[in-house]
Amino acid sequence: MVKIAPSILSADFSRLGEDIKKAEKGGADLIHLDVMDGRFVPNITIGPPVIKNLRSVTRLPFDVHLMIEEPERYIKEFVDSGADIITVHQEATVHLHRTIQQIKSYGIKAGVALNPSTPLSTIEYIIEDIDMVLIMTVNPGFGGQKFINNIGMKIRKLRDLINEKNLNIDIEVDGGIKLENAENVVRCGANVLVAGSAVFNSSDVAETIRKFKQQKFS
Ligand code: DX5
Ligand code: ZN
Repeated sequence: MVKIAPSILSADFSRLGEDIKKAEKGGADLIHLDVMDGRFVPNITIGPPVIKNLRSVTRLPFDVHLMIEEPERYIKEFVDSGADIITVHQEATVHLHRTIQQIKSYGIKAGVALNPSTPLSTIEYIIEDIDMVLIMTVNPGFGGQKFINNIGMKIRKLRDLINEKNLNIDIEVDGGIKLENAENVVRCGANVLVAGSAVFNSSDVAETIRKFKQQKFS
């Protein structure tokens, strides 16, 4: 089953609670929260206090995407703020295996994100340890960027690898996902779709999510 994870990066930051409720109404499966530190990526967004305040708004799992250097320094804060999945970037942490174990020690799910130029081989020896791989389909940092077409091949390769090893790992795609290209990424092997601007810049948030969910993905 394909899951939809609206990214609140493109929501109205003065009404995050309301926007999350709209997403929930439309049938969102997860809420994707983008944390940026102004170092790993050029942008700065939200941190644990905001996530903590949003926790009471919905029961949907919080999918926290950390675009921060040395994420290992903040795992506990994000767990305490209510994260259900924490995804760290392979490029941002030197001891990736240790960081994954650290996340899992709190009983939540661990994901690893790969920038567009980062090869799949960088996660070869830890793939058995994780619950999700986040394939960036844009360079992280901003909403509303254009999907990088070549990454379709990377998604396919990863799906083959996961199938070969008979693993139960989600493939999440993030960046430039629209109603028009959703079917294509699913065909490549993605099963969790992040959508920011496509959802929150649309005139009807709930209806747009419904449309994502109604696609046949055949
Ligand atoms: C970008 C973030 C994304 C962003 C996607 O670095 O990780 O989650 O919100 O936005 P869209 O869907 O507009 O490309
Ligand atoms: Zn994201």
